[in-house]
Amino acid sequence: MTGQISRKRNPRILVVDDNAENTTLMGQLLSSQGYETATASNANEAESVVDTNPPDLILLDVVMPGKSGYELCRELKESTSTRLIPVVMVTGLLDREDRLRGIESGADDFLHKPIFPEELFARVKSLLRLKEFTDELETAESVLCTLGRSVEARDPYTEGHCERLSHYAGELGRHLGLDDDSILALKRGGYLHDLGKISVPDEILKKGVHLSDQEWHIMKQHPVTGENICKPLRSLRRVLPIIRHHHEHWNGSGYPDGLPGRDIPLLARVLQVVDVYDALRTARPYKPALSHPECAATMLREAEAGLWDKDLVEKFFDLLDEERAA
Ligand SMILES: [Fe+2]
Repeated sequence: MTGQISRKRNPRILVVDDNAENTTLMGQLLSSQGYETATASNANEAESVVDTNPPDLILLDVVMPGKSGYELCRELKESTSTRLIPVVMVTGLLDREDRLRGIESGADDFLHKPIFPEELFARVKSLLRLKEFTDELETAESVLCTLGRSVEARDPYTEGHCERLSHYAGELGRHLGLDDDSILALKRGGYLHDLGKISVPDEILKKGVHLSDQEWHIMKQHPVTGENICKPLRSLRRVLPIIRHHHEHWNGSGYPDGLPGRDIPLLARVLQVVDVYDALRTARPYKPALSHPECAATMLREAEAGLWDKDLVEKFFDLLDEERAA
């Protein structure tokens, strides 16, 4: 490859344009730099290329018969499987309004016709570098979430716990009016909060209750272990307090830091309420599942006794009641 980007395979670029001359020219230019190229003459064709062999970048003509470049771009950016593919809008129109429409539809960059090769190469190179970073980040995150699930799978009685936790923690975050980043952190926290249990032996994990002092000591390390595993990833920065503090108690009797009340980070308290509810609702070898009203009564009693954030417990049950009434 003659390009300067070092990857295991050459980056693949999809050129979408209804003008065959343009796609051929762009294809030749990009191939000369060592990129693999694919072409499509309309949005439908582009969609099937993206489905079968996702490109690393899309050069997208704005004006096409059928679905416009704006519409296609918006759809790509709304789908979780394609939203991270950089899209460069190629337009002959210098109109400010068109540029705004492009930005609104989620385009990452713009190129104006006539295309100057040096400009094309510079844009493509910088966006592909960005794509490479996000790919690495995504891989690392999904590896950690898979690990979180595999920890859960060691205990058959907790099946589906992470999914439910992730869903309801996000819902409670939304119910509380938290910002999108916090909601995302809560959803990730659902999968990652118990990641540190990877270093807790099976026999301790399955015992659940009546742990010896030594076993309890090992069990109590899982929040800090989990935090250490996730620490190197900047994208998980907001999840770290959830992982570390999901076993703190409102009265300061929890672990690992014995934080009291509002010193416990809010997101950790949110996840904790959902975690406790799901644990109570699920049968384990050493305890039966509680009904919804029994869970409500138990958690409110435990909140009064100083274990949980009472306000959040009440808000969580408000949310569940709303959902049950809907
Ligand atoms: Fe835990």
